[in-house]
Amino acid sequence: MAEEHIIKEGTDLSRRDFLGTVTAGVAAAGVAAACVPFVSSMNPSSDVLAKATTEIDLSGIEPGQEKTFPWQGKPVFVVHRTPDEIKAMEASPGGKDPEPDSKRVEKPEWLVVIGICTHLGCVPNKTATGWLCPCHGSVYDNSGRIITGPAPKNLHIPPYHFVAENKILIGKA
Ligand code: FES
Repeated sequence: MAEEHIIKEGTDLSRRDFLGTVTAGVAAAGVAAACVPFVSSMNPSSDVLAKATTEIDLSGIEPGQEKTFPWQGKPVFVVHRTPDEIKAMEASPGGKDPEPDSKRVEKPEWLVVIGICTHLGCVPNKTATGWLCPCHGSVYDNSGRIITGPAPKNLHIPPYHFVAENKILIGKA
């Protein structure tokens, strides 16, 4: 009798195990199926992918002028530098993050930098000699190099290259 009870209990347990396994399997399949749209929603949409690169026509930017373009949600400053500005920047080693001007430009007359202060991320304002960050007073030169203030690094340069005489593609070096 006791043995029968044990067998019965064992049988019950096996059935419970089986049902448990099936239920877990169905639940796992449900979770996996639910994840498919979720995971695919994490992939960048086609318009975001399209903005991974931005083509900029430089022909409308006069010498001495700066224009700002959006790229991947960030402002990119494009400056058409004058011969005097180029000469001054080539003669200067920079400030607290020294870097030759020639390493920061593809062509001396065009400076392309990400317009986000390397201190805490404000957008600096253009001045005659470079940029001034309104948040804590960081001063950058016309090569985007940090001269004074709390910002530790020069303005970053996005990957870009010239696709034509007056056109650049930002997003690919
Ligand atoms: Fe630019 Fe602080 S964020 S100086």
